[in-house]
Amino acid sequence: MDFIDLKTQQNRIREGLNVRFDRIFEHGAYIMGPEVTELEEKLSDYVGVKHAISCSSGTDALLIPLMAWNIGPGDAVFTTPFTYVATAEVISLLGATPIFVDVYDSTFNIDCEKLELAIQHTISEGKLTPKAIIPVDLFGVPARYRVIEEITKKYDLKVIEDAAQSFGGEIRDKKVGTFGDVAATSFYPAKPLGCYGDGGAIFTNDDDLANKCKAIRIHGTTNDKYHSELIGLNGRLDSLQAAVLLEKLTIFDEELDLREKISIQYRKNLKNCQYIPDNYKSSHALFSILLQSNQKREEVINKLSKNNIPNVIYYKMPLHLMEAFSSLGYKEGDFPISEGLSKRILSLPMHPYLSKGNVELIINQIQ
Ligand SMILES: Cc1ncc(COP(=O)(O)O)c(C=O)c1O
Repeated sequence: MDFIDLKTQQNRIREGLNVRFDRIFEHGAYIMGPEVTELEEKLSDYVGVKHAISCSSGTDALLIPLMAWNIGPGDAVFTTPFTYVATAEVISLLGATPIFVDVYDSTFNIDCEKLELAIQHTISEGKLTPKAIIPVDLFGVPARYRVIEEITKKYDLKVIEDAAQSFGGEIRDKKVGTFGDVAATSFYPAKPLGCYGDGGAIFTNDDDLANKCKAIRIHGTTNDKYHSELIGLNGRLDSLQAAVLLEKLTIFDEELDLREKISIQYRKNLKNCQYIPDNYKSSHALFSILLQSNQKREEVINKLSKNNIPNVIYYKMPLHLMEAFSSLGYKEGDFPISEGLSKRILSLPMHPYLSKGNVELIINQIQ
């Protein structure tokens, strides 16, 4: 049994991949070739936004809009400590300060009441200027954007949706990628829509922001390749990765339905699964449950591993306790929900090709 099965999926799209790869070997435009433009058009149609800007990774998809807004030293950017390191790393990389806000113990996403308190506290301290929020759609479940958008209006903040794990998700029939000022997704191979290497995309309806992001992605250039107008990155997607994504997009909705069915089977039989609010659709990037205690989790991991059932802990250490963020001065006890989750959470196999029988086997072992 695989935690994520990319092989079965590859067998389904192999013929189409070969045709596309042959075409690329013929035309030879390996970087930013026609496949990249085709992909961007299909992505913006799929999500329902004006601009889909492909780039080199989900990390760069977060970094580029922050650069476009000139976020830097003295600026505060709010996010959660219960996420992958990239979410907060990009803030620190630009010299800005990540302000962590604890999550709900149900959805594992940013707690909006605590977010507002953190913003008010930062304003009253007067040391940093609140600039942006990066809510994370953890494991595929979108954050509470209706409330987040009210908060951003009140305090005049920007929002970048960290949709690295949630591409394909929805709130009330509105697709992930349309929330906030801009959204960032990842095409890392294990993601619901993944390529065969690193890749990512930025989504926005803001023309000015889109133009800046496009320039930053290619060393800050617009028309003249050898005259940079902004400081940028080598943040492009290559044509081979775009070709993989184009083929995978043709079966993506079907795969989302298959993931949904597996999630329903798990949920019918297991307690303490991640909560998905009414009218929210998860992309089911990961399926995570909470065990009663750290010790119970150890027992379950041992049992699953003995039966060759792969399992992973996302995330065993919240970001505020990582060495990389030690200069921020946080300590154990600062974010009790995130700390508690990191001790009790466990992710189970989740991919579109997981059989009903295998899900049953996993459920039986846990029960
Ligand atoms: C929540 C979150 N944000 C950002 C990223 C970064 O994406 P990438 O690995 O494509 O740079 C990831 C990737 O795992 C992620 O899970």
